Amino acid sequence: MAFLECQDLIKLYVEEQSKIQVPALRGIELTANEGDLIAIIGPSGSGKSTLVNLIGGIDRPSSGDIILGDSIITKMTTRQLTKYRRHRVGFLYQLPERNLVWNLTALKNVMLPMKLAGLLTHGEQKQRAQLLLKEVGLERRGNHKPPQLSGGEAQRAGIAVALANDPEIVLADEPTGELDSITTFKIIDYFKFLNKSLGKTFLVVTHDHRFANMTNKALRILDGRIVGLHRAIDPKKSLSAREEVIFVDDHGNLRLPDEIRRQAGIKNHIQIEMRDGFATLIPVRGDIESE
Ligand SMILES: Nc1ncnc2c1ncn2[C@@H]1O[C@H](COP(=O)(O)OP(=O)(O)OP(=O)(O)O)[C@@H](O)[C@H]1O
Ligand SMILES: [Mg+2]
Repeated sequence: MAFLECQDLIKLYVEEQSKIQVPALRGIELTANEGDLIAIIGPSGSGKSTLVNLIGGIDRPSSGDIILGDSIITKMTTRQLTKYRRHRVGFLYQLPERNLVWNLTALKNVMLPMKLAGLLTHGEQKQRAQLLLKEVGLERRGNHKPPQLSGGEAQRAGIAVALANDPEIVLADEPTGELDSITTFKIIDYFKFLNKSLGKTFLVVTHDHRFANMTNKALRILDGRIVGLHRAIDPKKSLSAREEVIFVDDHGNLRLPDEIRRQAGIKNHIQIEMRDGFATLIPVRGDIESE
């Protein structure tokens, strides 16, 4: 069984003034195994943060279920959800101000979630925080406060904070949005390193297409639906051989890429024929007048 499963997730927001419903997620189907490093890539407004908030137990879906390990998150009480967020999930956001407390040192920042969880002694918290800072290459920066860290260092400190309570999954929402290219690649490398060394499951949502080539599995999200998958053909051999496949949901729905629709002259209807064992899409000439 999959470690993380999203089943037909739908999220409608109700706009406060007009009371109009805004569909942010329109039936997300998603599975991940323990230890996966998954990128979910999509443009602004495609539903990335909404999805992270649902998996992280910050918000609830309008319908559908989320299962992590042996728990159905969507069936949890508010109290259980608070516990889930604190102990089982690590969060990393785009802005360091959201990940770190500004007037605490990096070390104290990493200790803070452990203090809130209340499972370790002060000495154990400190020891673990030092270890985590070392993991992210900040062993010499423990006494620095966030304003004294570079953008990349602040995000690495944020990763250590996210890992503080040894969560089952780390959810990162646009974690490199504020960083330059070189620092972005370094952060992606840290995700890969920690994913491998700790066997931790990472889910990163981003609009940055460069994530697609650097993870084994990158899902494309568009208009609140998973529309495709970009993956290594043979993850064991090489990351360089890649392929892009289109997602077909349990009902047979799929989204044709705009480029293919344009090139093939497809408007609103197609015929599908089997030819030599291949399903062939045939645009309808002149398309069908509205019925
Ligand atoms: N609280 C809200 N009330 C109403 N609509 C919302 C709310 N939050 C998000 N939306 C809408 O839901 C859709 C998805 O939003 P979401 O923030 O998940 O997108 P995103 O992919 O994270 O975008 P970005 O890359 O800009 O962060 C958008 O159309 C957005 O306007
Ligand atoms: Mg967002």
